[in-house]
Amino acid sequence: MSIIHSANWIKAASDCGTAAPVFKKEFTVSENVKSATLQISSLGVYEAKLNGKRVGDFILAPGWTNYQKRVQYQTYDITELLSKNNVLTVGVGNGWFLGRISKNIKEKPDTPLLICAVEIEYANNSKETFVSDASFLSSPSPTLFNDIYDGETYDAREFEYAWENAVVADYSKDVLIEQEGEIVRETETIKPVEYIVTPSGEHVIDFGQNMTGYIQFTVEGASGHEVVISHAEILDKHGNFYTENLRSAKEQIRYICNGKKETFKPSYTFYGFRYIKLENWPADIDLNNFTAIVVHSDMKRTGLFECSNKLINQLFKNTLWGQKSNFLDVPTDCPQRDERLGWTGDAQVFIKTASYNYNVEKFFKKWLHDLASEQLDNGDVPYVVPNTLYRYSSAAWGDAAVICPWQIYLTYNNKDILRDQFESMKKWVERIRNDGDTEFLWNTGNHFGDWLSKDAVPNETNFYGGTNITYIASAFYAYSTSLLIKAGKVLGKDMTEYENLYKNIVKEFKKAFISEDGSVIINTQTANILALKFDLCDNKAIVAKHLAELIQKNGNKLSTGFVGTPYLLHVLSDNGYSSLAYTLLLSDANPSWLYQIKRGATTIWEHWNGINENGDTLNPRMNSYNHYAYGSVVDWLYGVMAGINTDENNPGFKHIIFKPVTDERIDFVRASIDTRYGVVASEWKRSDSGDIEYIFNVPVGCSATVILGNDQYEVGSGEHRYTK
Ligand code: BGC
Repeated sequence: MSIIHSANWIKAASDCGTAAPVFKKEFTVSENVKSATLQISSLGVYEAKLNGKRVGDFILAPGWTNYQKRVQYQTYDITELLSKNNVLTVGVGNGWFLGRISKNIKEKPDTPLLICAVEIEYANNSKETFVSDASFLSSPSPTLFNDIYDGETYDAREFEYAWENAVVADYSKDVLIEQEGEIVRETETIKPVEYIVTPSGEHVIDFGQNMTGYIQFTVEGASGHEVVISHAEILDKHGNFYTENLRSAKEQIRYICNGKKETFKPSYTFYGFRYIKLENWPADIDLNNFTAIVVHSDMKRTGLFECSNKLINQLFKNTLWGQKSNFLDVPTDCPQRDERLGWTGDAQVFIKTASYNYNVEKFFKKWLHDLASEQLDNGDVPYVVPNTLYRYSSAAWGDAAVICPWQIYLTYNNKDILRDQFESMKKWVERIRNDGDTEFLWNTGNHFGDWLSKDAVPNETNFYGGTNITYIASAFYAYSTSLLIKAGKVLGKDMTEYENLYKNIVKEFKKAFISEDGSVIINTQTANILALKFDLCDNKAIVAKHLAELIQKNGNKLSTGFVGTPYLLHVLSDNGYSSLAYTLLLSDANPSWLYQIKRGATTIWEHWNGINENGDTLNPRMNSYNHYAYGSVVDWLYGVMAGINTDENNPGFKHIIFKPVTDERIDFVRASIDTRYGVVASEWKRSDSGDIEYIFNVPVGCSATVILGNDQYEVGSGEHRYTK
């Protein structure tokens, strides 16, 4: 039990309407304070100030969890902010629990709640505490409106607070847990690159980068004058401000001026944007008055990649931006439209790349704890975590329950995550096993298929792709079972039962989907990819050949969606088709990774063709320009181009497998990952003589196997050079 557990949840005394409530407590301390801490949390998102200064730098605290069961609280050292007479003020916005994003959630308070405790320790070791209770005052605040999707309205004029005693609210305190994830912070600022008057006369500022966060601006307007700032990811093909793909999300700031020069940024929301549109701006537009502030979970950057192809470097950079934009306390699908949810499938698809780019160990630990807490007794995994949709268990989405902990184990050698999640992993496999009347195939339920692949008929209106659903579901059933077995063995468990289950799944799978000549009977790229990746075929050569033929027949273009894409290049390079893998990577035809780069993308698009060749945008019903799923190709850049791989038997890069695959279209590659044991690096470059020089770096205490063509070397820590 922490001091915060002795405090009370409180709410505003009167209905604040759409305004965010603010709470206030004045307290006096004696002399000789040794230290002072504030423990605090809210239902809604809070911003606390002590004596006018912001406490901590956590944006949108306390973050987003399964609030019915788990609410993080934060502990701040406030010694430096303290004086003799103190005023603690805490504003609480709607955030993720009370805003539109949680409209389906029934069991929640109807107004934001706050809980906090100040503890003062004096030099003589005595302690004094002030906890939230009815002695706190409450009032509506000048934040007249706030919502994650719709933005914020702020009245900068002289504000008359209507202070009344707060009311103690009824909400469990058992849900309070210590901060578990990363802190969400303002991590960088971006200055505008251009002021544009669009063909339809709109006043638009371009920040040059699609991103997540908010803007800070300085404005001087007559008292009562309202400015409106809208946000957008792209301009349409005519160069006009385009917001249709935000669907119902308003993404606006409304600011009421007070006659003085003021600087403002929102407190309780975030925006996905590259452009802003100004309406009613009271003066000439001066770009110096605008700054974009990037906000996301403050993960340590660990991965670097660079090669001789500039477009690939941009693809890498776009993937980093995709991750920064969508790792805002939970892994989300997108940061802009009226969605922004913790889609399990998207997270699963991207986690390997994510774990190389940044240290996401803590980030996923928290999210996976939420996933387990949201799992139903029968093992059902919600489509989104935290669960706001009450819909469950699609193949490749629910499998996040197994794939994500396993990847965190591999990247960070973190056994605790396997221990924490093992029951959840097992429940997921059992959930599939017990579904329908076939124990060894998964042929029931609703699934997203190979989401957004290009081989569906008809293409534009069918998001589920062309690969048979039972095939995908059964393939993932086999894969998750295989990972569960591995996880169990790491934890020293007897996995015989699941080994038998796995054998039967594979047997039935082959019976159902592999023909006598050894090929896969489902004729899509993704079907062949899954058979190869998940070891579901005996004759890999024939399946790989078939996959290569399908790609060639398609004009050397991919047709895969969320499910097939992450493994596409891997199965090609693993099975003798690395040149074709490079061809796909380097293609800029539609669809391909570089097509969107050619069209100016600064993040990863949801659809391969979010903007068509003629400049038309896809159906706005579902067309985000900041979805990271296809950025999952970046783990192939680290793992195959640069050749940096973990060893399942000695994970976390304690033993590294270097196996770079070169191609004559690339002159050099340089990559590194700052692992738990130190920096692992790989570099190769073509010399004038045509030889390739390789340099590998192995951290102290680690070892590596270097595989270069048919040659193999076992090496210890330090730098290792080879010329071939
Ligand atoms: C999301 C996806 C998600 C999908 C599931 C979409 O609306 O944006 O990324 O995985 O739904 O079908």
